[in-house]
Parts: sequence; C-alpha cells; structure tokens
Amino acid sequence: MSEPTTRVAVCPGSFDPITRGHEDIVRRSLRLADRVVVAVAHSPTQAKKGMFGIEERVEMIRESFADEPRVEAAEFQGLLVDYARRIGAGVVVRGVRTVADFEYEMQMALMNRRISGGLETVFLAPDPEHSFVTGTLVRQVAQLGGDVSPFVSGPVLRRIRAAIRP
Ligand code: PNS
Repeated sequence: MSEPTTRVAVCPGSFDPITRGHEDIVRRSLRLADRVVVAVAHSPTQAKKGMFGIEERVEMIRESFADEPRVEAAEFQGLLVDYARRIGAGVVVRGVRTVADFEYEMQMALMNRRISGGLETVFLAPDPEHSFVTGTLVRQVAQLGGDVSPFVSGPVLRRIRAAIRP
C-alpha cells in the first residue's frame, strides 16, 4: 500500500464565515502542498448555531479563492481523519494564533494522529495582522453593527451584509 501523499493538505474548520485570517493560512499552506482542500465540518449542532449554512460557507470559500485553482472548497461529515483518508490528504493544516489556541490544537492533533494511525498536523502562524481575527468575533461585531470589512474578503462581506440586513 502506498503512503498517503503530503501533496494534498486538508484545512478543516467551521468557517462561519471564512476570514482573512483563514485565507492567510490557506495561502501559506500552498507552499507546503500542491493542492489544499478547505473543508467545512458538517455537524448539525454547529450548523444550527452558526450565521451561515454549510452550503453557503463552502460557496464563500470558493468565492474567496476564485483566483487560486489549487484550492478546493468542500464539506465533510464525520471524523476528519476518515475524510482525510478518503481524499488522499497526508497532512492537516491548522492556524495557531495564540497560546490558548495551541492547547486545543495540540489535543486535536494528537487525537487525530492516534485514531488514524499517523495522520500528521502542521501548525502555521498567521500574519500578525490577523492574529486576533476569529469567525466568532467577526459574526459578533457584524451583528452589532460594526465594520468587519478589514477582516473578510469582498464576497464574504456582501453575504454578511445580506445576512444581517433587517
Ligand atoms: O474552526 P474550528 O471550529 O476550530 O474547527 C474545528 C474542527 C472542525 C477542525 C474540528 O471540530 C473537527 O475536526 N471536526 C470534525 C469531527 C472530528 O474529527 N472530531 C474529532 C477531532 S479530534
């Protein structure tokens, strides 16, 4: 059996919505892999709580990377490790912004490695300009009338404005 290739990376997340911070990590990961699959985790509980449905999150990723043929947007259900195996991804890429992020990320990376029998995770540091940007904060600021234009791409901003329009 051949080893899974590291040429395909999976960048999983909830992406509700994708932010410039996520985009930065995905573009950086193109230096490590030939193809990057940005995969929205499909979970009924997450979908209910979020601002956008899964389909729309995927569309926003597609729109944000319309210029980059090596980036693919997708959704998945179930375990990330099973999805990674199905698409032939040899590595998971996650951005780590803060020490607080690191603890959670390390737990996930170790669990994923254990239950998959060896799937590796690579942590990438974002541009410091994006180090405080999270999907949760973007949603909150937007819902309360703040300007989130510096934190998301044009297509995402348009959808946020449509979503919160009274
Ligand atoms: O953007 P998020 O919410 O920090 O992403 C978390 C995500 C989607 C990467 C994580 O919850 C995940 O991998 N979910 C898929 C289900 C799974 O494999 N869970 C076990 C993780 S150890």
